[in-house]
Amino acid sequence: ARGPAQPIGIFDSGVGGLSVLADLRRVLPHEDVLYLADSAHVPYGDRDRQDVQALTLAGVNWLREQGCKLVVIACNTACAFSLNPVREALDLPVVGLVPALKPAVHATRSGRVAVLATRITLDGDLLEGVVTEHARPNGVQVMKLWERRLVPLVEAGGAQSDEARALLHEVLTPALQAGVDALVLGCTHYPYLAPAIRAEFGDAFTLFDSGDGVARQTRRRLEAVNALNPAGTPGRVSVFTTGDPARVTPGVRQLLPDAPTVQHATVLPV
Ligand code: SIN
Repeated sequence: ARGPAQPIGIFDSGVGGLSVLADLRRVLPHEDVLYLADSAHVPYGDRDRQDVQALTLAGVNWLREQGCKLVVIACNTACAFSLNPVREALDLPVVGLVPALKPAVHATRSGRVAVLATRITLDGDLLEGVVTEHARPNGVQVMKLWERRLVPLVEAGGAQSDEARALLHEVLTPALQAGVDALVLGCTHYPYLAPAIRAEFGDAFTLFDSGDGVARQTRRRLEAVNALNPAGTPGRVSVFTTGDPARVTPGVRQLLPDAPTVQHATVLPV
């Protein structure tokens, strides 16, 4: 059995899940965390579903083999079609995330919300479920937006760059013109774009992301099985990449200034 002192795993295609790590550390400050970035295969948004499913299964399984007591898949693209298959394949609590459409539906005044995500996330079963359950019954229209250059830009440390602002201007202006007032950041890389969105659009959009909700859900899952770490000391974070640590480190350090040395992980297919 996996005891309370064992770490939580976080899996992402790259550095986007560090935004979820920040929420997790706030809500669960005493937990140790192993973070795995599949940098060798990012961006997942450009891959096909089967590929994303196999990579997600392999990454989550690697974290399980390191002794993690629970794994958070901190990547919307990895969750969109793969969350249930991964849960079925592995004997481990797995927490996933879905774009934060539900709070946006309740907050919009114009009745129009937009979700910015990858194609896989926008086409995925998880988002469709929330649209059916929350948006349609409330008469809220959901606009789906994607821009495949945003994830690589965040990976390269360009979240605040002029290029990011120009891409956001291009992809979000139609939403503004359509009367959208609530914008769901449906990719864990995108909370890092919030300053650029505000610089470009002021407070035209209220922004929603899933980080806080996932952190609280993780706490509930651990409480339910008595697996919260009883230590009173701050948890330790370890960061692993399937890519070259030297190339990944600058991006990690930019988003997580107190990041430890990034280590290489050899992740094998399941
Ligand atoms: C990607 O790797 O393309 C996006 C990751 C995400 O959806 O969070």
